[in-house]
Amino acid sequence: MRIVQVSLGDRSYAIKVGGGLLPRLGAACAQLKLGQRCAVITDSNVGKYYAAVALKSLSAAGFEPVLITVPAGETSKRVALVEKCYDQLAAQRLERKSFIIALGGGVVGDLAGFVAATYLRGIPFVQVPTSLLAQVDSSVGGKTGVNLRAGKNLVGAFYQPKLVLCDLDTFKTLPEREFISGLAEVIKYGIIYDAKLFAQLERDLPKILKRDPKILAQIVARCCEIKADVVGQDETENGLRAILNFGHTIGHAIENSSGYGKYLHGEAISIGQVAAAKLSGKILGLSVNEVERIEKLFTRAGLPVQIKLNPSSRKKLFAAMLLDKKVSAGEVKFVLAKKIGQVVWGQKVSTALIEEVLAS
Ligand code: NAD
Ligand code: GLY
Repeated sequence: MRIVQVSLGDRSYAIKVGGGLLPRLGAACAQLKLGQRCAVITDSNVGKYYAAVALKSLSAAGFEPVLITVPAGETSKRVALVEKCYDQLAAQRLERKSFIIALGGGVVGDLAGFVAATYLRGIPFVQVPTSLLAQVDSSVGGKTGVNLRAGKNLVGAFYQPKLVLCDLDTFKTLPEREFISGLAEVIKYGIIYDAKLFAQLERDLPKILKRDPKILAQIVARCCEIKADVVGQDETENGLRAILNFGHTIGHAIENSSGYGKYLHGEAISIGQVAAAKLSGKILGLSVNEVERIEKLFTRAGLPVQIKLNPSSRKKLFAAMLLDKKVSAGEVKFVLAKKIGQVVWGQKVSTALIEEVLAS
């Protein structure tokens, strides 16, 4: 097992990465000195495979777990589901010392984390991410929240978990399209922070696509280290943390304007990252070779790198982009790359240039 530490003073926590960790969930929670009652929040897909193991392990360690299952999919990340969770927690009499376990992908993590942040003004929670995307990104760093019709993640809280348990064995049931979607965030870390990781991904991609456990253990841990490093320096996104949003301004707008669900998050940010790389070439002089390497890696991973727009979908996409949380005073700000492994944030980009790049 590999352990990555997120250093945030009294809110510090460990990310444990390895195989066979879910059956040891109860023992891991027992070390955290939490209350006896807990709620496992999961979704209808993940629950089928892993809820029983999680509940058994928690009971064996002396906890009294209850199970809350929400429908699988992005549409569960909404206020109505938050309220349903509150009602079930209250009905089961969960108290201040009780805790929540988020067992699932990023949707469950964001939803359950937000419920934990707000129920009784905050109770502890543990992340047990089961998708690649959730293990390398969403379970780490404390961003929790839900979507509004007006846009993604518009309601939320920064609320750190007490522990993140990444059991690599859960990838055995993860659908191929979801696994590939997670790779978009993995590649992002190479672009924004670690040229060596990017080169390793270029080299090891065939093994990664075969889900080689040794390489995945190393890569998941490296991505978590990068995220922990960034979040440790800028927990609430006053500056540096913005780099984690490379490709997300366009990506979120694609998800929103096409109706959540058509593009998976990773697919949308793959298109967004390739567009951001092209913008980086035009604005910061990112070399043609590196723009090509970026586009090629996403393509080889099986991710989309372009979106076909007609006048109506283009209008919707740009309207959605202006609703992004990162827009200030009507200006769209981008994270752009100087070279692979090094990015800058807060770059103003004209809508004309974004249009040009999306059309290319
Ligand atoms: P998801 O939670 O919808 O999971 C994807 C699908 O895979 C779902 O159908 C789920 O039921 C299924 N699944 C998950 N693990 C499985 C497993 N081991 N076996 C079988 N099926 C499994 O989506 P996601 O891609 O994990 O996360 C996307 C969400 O994460 C988006 O809402 C995005 O906004 C959010 N996100 C949040 C952060 C953050 O910092 N909080 C960062 C990135 C993304
Ligand atoms: N995924 C972006 C962040 O955690 O800041």
